[in-house]
Amino acid sequence: DKGNHRHFMAKEIYEQPEVVARTLAHYIDMARGRVCPVDMPVDFARLDRISIAACGTAYLAGMVGKYWFERFARLPVEIDVASEFRYREAPLEKGGLTLVISQSGETADTLASLRYAKQCGQNVLAVVNVPTSTIARESTAVAPTLAGIEVGVASTKAFLCQLTVLLCLAVAAGRARGTLSAEDERGIVDALIGVPGLLAEALKGERQIEVLAREIAKATDVLYLGRGTSYPLAMEGALKLKEISYIHAEGYAAGELKHGPIALIDERMPVIVIAPYDAVFEKTASNMQEVAARGGRIVLLTDERGAAEAGLETLATVKLPEVHPAVAPLIYTVPVQLLAYHTAVFMGKDVDQPRNLAKSVTVE
Ligand code: F6R
Repeated sequence: DKGNHRHFMAKEIYEQPEVVARTLAHYIDMARGRVCPVDMPVDFARLDRISIAACGTAYLAGMVGKYWFERFARLPVEIDVASEFRYREAPLEKGGLTLVISQSGETADTLASLRYAKQCGQNVLAVVNVPTSTIARESTAVAPTLAGIEVGVASTKAFLCQLTVLLCLAVAAGRARGTLSAEDERGIVDALIGVPGLLAEALKGERQIEVLAREIAKATDVLYLGRGTSYPLAMEGALKLKEISYIHAEGYAAGELKHGPIALIDERMPVIVIAPYDAVFEKTASNMQEVAARGGRIVLLTDERGAAEAGLETLATVKLPEVHPAVAPLIYTVPVQLLAYHTAVFMGKDVDQPRNLAKSVTVE
């Protein structure tokens, strides 16, 4: 049932404040303002590193998770797409931890990665949406994402719930390892509690994005740029756009621009820059100047402060609420999803059933 939405994808984008609130209720002790103890197969304090394996959008959630685990828990993270992880025979220590992330819990390569990790004697924690899935059954422990059934082939609400769970796990790891002060934990938890409200606010920007989508629909190539946790988000934006609109899109680390992709910049290729006003904003802003100087048309996703500091002409500036940097990836996901959605709808594409794609990829 799509409710009063035209597509499942729209319905699922709009469900995000609700499903993230549900996921938070599971992982956060609201009264104490702390992350709940997670049912972990191995103590975070005993680990030297963790490995993550996943595919597609779930892999990109894992990449955001890597930044969080390394920052808040000082825990090195190795991440691979599952199709590489399973065959490259990475040396994995007995008793260590592998995290697999999957909406369906049936993705063949992710399942094979899980089995490989277990063979190596690792504990496997599955961040998974379907609790009855094979991946949930075979892993050592499950961290459920609680997004509810996702119908649209392009993953939206499952991605946001994966981010929510990963941030809670990173905070729990930070506490266990003594790398995150009680005050910093409180700051992140308070920010997390505010996320459903901020998502609802971000959704109010839909009309502006719908208009912008008509411009994007004319492009044959689109570049997405971001730094820090906005980098995996840039790749997620590009993935969403290509899979449902069939426009060629690439996500790049903003700092990589001058190492190649800048050669592509001209007035026909929109450049979507994801840049909340954070510790790396100034660096991204200078990459933006380089794009502008070459006639590139910029769509800037930022906040009030970032818009003021950027000081350049853009095709559009989409302003989001000012947020704690830890939760920015969750909030900035909304415009990225809406842009892909409206571009594809405007082009008359079947957004819920894009060509050549299946919701659950059970072959390698
Ligand atoms: C993209 C998308 C895919 C999936 C990938 C993994 O929107 O939906 O990239 O994320 O096929 O699927 P799961 O999470 O079911 O393992």
